[in-house]
Amino acid sequence: MKDFLTLWDYSKEEIYCFLDEAVKLKQMQEQGEPHLYLKDKILAMIFEKASTRTRVSFEVGIMQLGGKSLFLNSKDIQLGRGETIADTARVLSRYVDGIMIRTFAHAKVEELAYWASVPVINGLTDDHHPCQVIADLFTIKEYKGELKNLKLCFIGDGNNVANSLLEGAVKVEMDICVATPKGYEPKGEVVEVVKKLACQQGTKVIITNDPLAAVKDADIVYTDVWTSMGQESENSKRQVCFKDYQINQELCSYADKDHIVLHCLPAHRGEEVTADILDGPHSVIFDQAENRLHVQKAIMKALIGR
Ligand code: CP
Ligand code: NVA
Repeated sequence: MKDFLTLWDYSKEEIYCFLDEAVKLKQMQEQGEPHLYLKDKILAMIFEKASTRTRVSFEVGIMQLGGKSLFLNSKDIQLGRGETIADTARVLSRYVDGIMIRTFAHAKVEELAYWASVPVINGLTDDHHPCQVIADLFTIKEYKGELKNLKLCFIGDGNNVANSLLEGAVKVEMDICVATPKGYEPKGEVVEVVKKLACQQGTKVIITNDPLAAVKDADIVYTDVWTSMGQESENSKRQVCFKDYQINQELCSYADKDHIVLHCLPAHRGEEVTADILDGPHSVIFDQAENRLHVQKAIMKALIGR
């Protein structure tokens, strides 16, 4: 596989390969053991939206692997003045060994990957956030020891993170239940394909408007912001629509007693999650954020290191 655009493009075995490689890379980093698998390789990183974790973890990750990165704000390159994606892809491919992009329409990443001769990594689109979900699966495995047969619930907006979680959870045979307000369900075409695979393998995918049903006995309670980047004009409407979808003590009391709480961050305490939950004993959000670094190193090693 040349690119990393969605988790649906990868098999269960390939996802486990990333996770296993990330375990090794995390150990090497912790033990101060050099692991210069991408010595002198260069990653271009195009950002059309803001980022803290994705930008810093990719930048630091490639440095730890012996390579270098270029941060390209789309406003500062000709892409922001109308140069085509196809031309940008073909030009960058002459200079760098891989391209990471964070943008709006998912089709833009697909187009970039089509024209680029080097690997393209999706650093978030309006529809998908696959690097995040590999880190989430890694974190769940660290805490729970396995992925199969666990129940993950996602409460809130059926957004990019929810879509990728559906794909990731189903691929590794976890049960997943997504609870959103009416009209904010995950992408129909994602739900359709994941339900089909879940049915074949005997796992559960439930899309509901009932947060209590979703959280019941869940091993993992996950949420994300109610208003994603690019949706700022809908913020006040969303505050009203989502008010019954907050992760709080009451809701978490229905989860399994040993549940963990995940949030991809950035978070809005008091909106999608209360501060006592996000900063409480079940929350593993900073390990989750750290793990972005280790899994993305595994992804870059697999794609760019050949
Ligand atoms: N979770 C995540 O992708 O964070 P950033 O927007 O800070 O990159
Ligand atoms: N759903 C959020 C995720 C941020 C990492 C957004 O797209 O803004």
